[in-house]
Amino acid sequence: MTTLLINKKKYTIDVDPEMPLLWAIRDTIGLTGTKFGCGIGACGACKVLVDNVAAYSCLTPVSTVVGKNITTIEGTTENLQLLQKSWEEFNVPQCGYCQPGQLITATSLLNSNKNPSDNDIDDAMSGNICRCGTYQRIKSAIKHTVE
Ligand code: FES
Repeated sequence: MTTLLINKKKYTIDVDPEMPLLWAIRDTIGLTGTKFGCGIGACGACKVLVDNVAAYSCLTPVSTVVGKNITTIEGTTENLQLLQKSWEEFNVPQCGYCQPGQLITATSLLNSNKNPSDNDIDDAMSGNICRCGTYQRIKSAIKHTVE
């Protein structure tokens, strides 16, 4: 058995320790806000926070995050909630599929940098792909959050 701490709640699950965290979160635990996009660390849809830093859950074996603080889009950390408000205000999502990963990456950025420059935002968000092209609104929403 493996115990994971997700959004401040403990989940004890019976999974292969090498299973990607994404499957444990979505299929075993049932938190489906985190999305599957590519499965190879190329799109960012699956990102979650591990000890406040964004990580690709599709590439993260469950065994490597035991004892760590995992936050998904269902979490309620301060920066995540502030960003969600800005996302609403700026009408960021189009289809919405990539947005949980975008929000998690933006949260990770604000967790480590309270006043990111345009370049910092571009660098931080570069691993998150949006097929609808919401990049400009994402950037505006992040900037608004730190104003
Ligand atoms: Fe993990 Fe695309 S599903 S990066």
